[in-house]
Amino acid sequence: MDNWIKVTSIFVLSGLFLFGLYHSSAISDSKGPMQPILFSHKIHAGENQIPCQYCHSFADVSTNPGIPSVQKCIGCHSQVHGKDEDYKTDTGKVINFKTEIDKVKDYWQRKEPIPWIKVTDMPEYVRFNHKRHIKRGFECQTCHGQVQEMDVVYKAERMNMGFCITCHEENADNQEHLTQLKDCLTCHY
Ligand code: HEC
Ligand code: HEC
Ligand code: HEC
Ligand code: HEC
Ligand code: HEC
Repeated sequence: MDNWIKVTSIFVLSGLFLFGLYHSSAISDSKGPMQPILFSHKIHAGENQIPCQYCHSFADVSTNPGIPSVQKCIGCHSQVHGKDEDYKTDTGKVINFKTEIDKVKDYWQRKEPIPWIKVTDMPEYVRFNHKRHIKRGFECQTCHGQVQEMDVVYKAERMNMGFCITCHEENADNQEHLTQLKDCLTCHY
């Protein structure tokens, strides 16, 4: 009986482990999550050249750049209804502009926020601040990849500890600044 329990728990544990592996590799896969609306950065920030900070307006003033509200979308989509045309996205999914934009209007009419799924996520114990990096002149693409070419945003850079520290080493103003930028407590609570 004891053995049976051991065998079962090993089986369950390795199942959980494989499940975890599957999910962590799914995150670092070049395909982003399935969002409630297929919002293409390639169409908006690429083809139509809407500046990143028009939508992520707090990038240079706050820790968090923010995700635009439905109201911001409607600012344009009360006039831009979208062509009644199919479009094949880089994930292979085919959407119709007009149908997809109608979904945005539905959220607006129901006064509901769009439940976007987060793509870039840092563990709780990491401290990160956009403002300092943007004020210093770094481009969004340095950390997020060529977002303006993506139909579905995915995590392009691993953004692990080495990624942060390498750049801190390369950009410190002087020895004192370097010591500060490499201090554990600069990035960890
Ligand atoms: C500054 C104007 C502007 C804003 C703001 C804007 N859009 Fe768009 N959007 C456009 C234009 C232009 C198109 C292309 C329409 C066409 O070619 O038919 C488009 C196309 C789309 C499409 C169809 C193509 C695709 O990306 O799947 C969707 C869906 C869409 N927008 C959703 C949104 C959502 C959601 C927001 C808010 C987060 C938003 N838009 C904000 C201008 C805007
Ligand atoms: C028209 C509005 C709009 C513009 C312009 C725009 N974004 Fe976004 N962005 C969104 C919306 C809506 C989401 C949430 C849905 C998604 O992840 O695709 C988002 C998500 C993101 C994410 C993923 C956030 C997360 O969950 O971790 C990144 C990174 C990002 N945008 C960067 C950029 C960059 C860089 C640019 C300029 C090249 C840009 N965005 C331009 C609306 C916009
Ligand atoms: C130095 C690296 C770096 C730069 C430069 C950078 N980001 Fe980020 N971004 C991050 C990290 C790290 C996170 C995850 C933060 C977290 O989860 O606490 C993030 C998260 C985000 C999110 C998700 C916020 C949320 O609440 O879901 C958006 C949107 C975003 N960045 C947009 C931008 C835009 C737009 C720019 C350029 C104006 C930019 N970022 C520049 C590293 C960077
Ligand atoms: C592209 C280069 C670059 C990358 C990548 C980068 N940093 Fe920085 N970071 C800097 C520079 C340069 C400064 C100093 C800015 C200043 O003092 O004006 C800085 C400052 C900071 C600060 C101190 C300022 C503050 O916000 O209080 C923290 C914390 C920080 N970075 C965390 C991170 C973390 C966490 C990552 C990885 C997710 C990261 N950085 C990735 C270049 C970078
Ligand atoms: C420039 C920012 C930065 C500095 C400085 C930094 N860390 Fe980190 N650290 C991170 C980030 C970002 C992660 C999350 C990595 C991930 O999620 O892949 C991390 C993760 C960790 C982890 C979790 C395990 C791991 O490796 O992912 C430990 C432990 C850790 N850091 C310890 C330290 C210690 C100790 C120091 C000082 C010697 C330090 N860190 C300095 C950014 C930093």
